[in-house]
Amino acid sequence: MKLVPPSAIYEASYQQYIKELGDEERYPFPMDFDHADFEALIQKLINFAKGKNLPEGFVPSSTLWLVDETEIVGVTNIRHYLNDRITHCGGHIGLGIRPKYRGKGYGKRLMELSIQWLQEMKAGTIHIHCHKDNPASANTIKACGGLLDSEIEADGKIVQRYLVKPGD
Ligand SMILES: CC(C)(COP(=O)(O)OP(=O)(O)OC[C@H]1O[C@@H](n2cnc3c(N)ncnc32)[C@H](O)[C@@H]1OP(=O)(O)O)[C@@H](O)C(=O)NCCC(=O)NCCS
Repeated sequence: MKLVPPSAIYEASYQQYIKELGDEERYPFPMDFDHADFEALIQKLINFAKGKNLPEGFVPSSTLWLVDETEIVGVTNIRHYLNDRITHCGGHIGLGIRPKYRGKGYGKRLMELSIQWLQEMKAGTIHIHCHKDNPASANTIKACGGLLDSEIEADGKIVQRYLVKPGD
């Protein structure tokens, strides 16, 4: 199992992953990007990491895939730094695991690797947010050392804000 940048060699697995998600809300947000033209999707993800052509209010972010051989097991999106908007709601990390691989420890592994990636970038305190009604996500954050800092309301839902401090 390793974390890799998006690459065309995983196209078949990516298409199956999206199919398997069906109508469920997709995490992280780049999973909503159009993927019919796969090379264009890869280029868009590279641009996001470089901070090129970003939508208003977005910071540069790296999308990385957790893979096992040729299979994409999960996807993380790591924001390189925070602005006011995502300090309030959004945080540094968004991730998801392909449905058939859930509940086997891969979410925890992907979160650990995402935290490690930010720590190597010397990101300082890492902010990780999730909806209170998503216990799988909250438990994944807690299992990776996240400590509940506060709760806010956003779009009619309670958002829990966790922190991982340097040295924790
Ligand atoms: C949230 C998600 C990434 C967790 O990944 P996962 O591979 O299923 O989780 P893991 O097997 O690594 O388990 C991590 C922790 O969560 C707990 N957990 C997993 N599924 C759970 C569930 N359905 N309900 C409650 N806790 C759960 C595990 O027990 C474990 O905690 P522990 O180490 O204290 O025992 C995955 O469920 C997912 O992709 N969900 C849809 C997308 C999403 O909600 N993303 C987060 C948005 S911020």
